[in-house]
Amino acid sequence: MDEVRLDSLDGVGPVTTKKLNDAGIHNIMDLLVRGPVDIAEITGMEFDTAAKLVTKARESLTESGQLQKEFVSATEIYKRRQDIGKISTNTNALDMLFDGGIETQAVTEVYGEFGSGKTQFCHTMCVNVQKPKEEGGLDGGVLYIDTENTFRPERIVSIAKAKGLDPAKALDRIIVAKAYNSSHQELIMQEAGTVIEENKIKLIVVDSAVGLFRAEYLGRGTLSIRQQRLNKFMHLLTRTAETYNVAAIATNQVMSSPDTFFGDPTRPIGGNVVAHSSTYRVYFKKSGKKRIARMVDSPHHPEQEVIFILTEAGVSDPEEETKKKKKDESEE
Ligand code: GTP
Ligand code: MG
Repeated sequence: MDEVRLDSLDGVGPVTTKKLNDAGIHNIMDLLVRGPVDIAEITGMEFDTAAKLVTKARESLTESGQLQKEFVSATEIYKRRQDIGKISTNTNALDMLFDGGIETQAVTEVYGEFGSGKTQFCHTMCVNVQKPKEEGGLDGGVLYIDTENTFRPERIVSIAKAKGLDPAKALDRIIVAKAYNSSHQELIMQEAGTVIEENKIKLIVVDSAVGLFRAEYLGRGTLSIRQQRLNKFMHLLTRTAETYNVAAIATNQVMSSPDTFFGDPTRPIGGNVVAHSSTYRVYFKKSGKKRIARMVDSPHHPEQEVIFILTEAGVSDPEEETKKKKKDESEE
């Protein structure tokens, strides 16, 4: 893509290009995603120079229609929203909750207690995004940032089989990045641009977004710095989703311990990690064998609850189990 080449910007020659490349910035989108403060820091450039570069990057992307202008009419926002792709969850229940599926240009935050199905949901969406558009997918690949070592290729194989997709191909289109600590997690996100473009990524999964930060910053005294760094990460994720028109899922655990006397025991650990208009928050809760999903925070979805279950096919409608039982019985 020539139009996103760094040297297509006015005044950017081989020297600046190399300096930026060395710092992990490979195209105009990267400039915008990182922002002037970061760019100055990693390249050693003056802040003013970095800021000018970012402005040029923004102008260039606005001109080519890849980015929204600062001041826009509601009609234009409406039009840009038409570019938003949706990945179906392949269940009636969750598609109803998400109004058709999870959106590109946005981060969908899923929080819930252990075993509530967050990781299973992520795995299911890794397969669903690969389906053709007619079947609710975006014919895209996945970047899976695994911070808890819970990515399981076997699950992808079984979900793909259950949905009639070639398991080998399904695995091929998922790029897994293991993050070892929170700085590494940040770094992976910063360098995601090239991976996204080269692999036609349409979904970024961060499972979990919060875990490493939580483990590294223990105790009340470190809470504010943890929040700052987490905020920075989530903003980076949001900017990436918006700039590259991809969907992002970030998971977050909640404490549901009985010793929580104060406040809501089901609050996400990271707190309100992002307050951004393009972010949806969904709460998963266990209810025996069933799972409840609730839309908590969305600019345009009604607040409602639906019931789903976890099967070998990933997240499924509760009816699926009844159907399967009947089928098994008739086969006996
Ligand atoms: P934490 O990461 O610990 O916070 O939990 P989580 O919300 O990510 O939970 P996860 O998605 O790992 O859900 C685990 C649950 O999924 C298990 O308790 C099982 O009930 C269910 N599960 C996982 N794999 C299968 C499967 O192959 N078949 C069926 N039927 N259920 C499965
Ligand atoms: Mg998990």
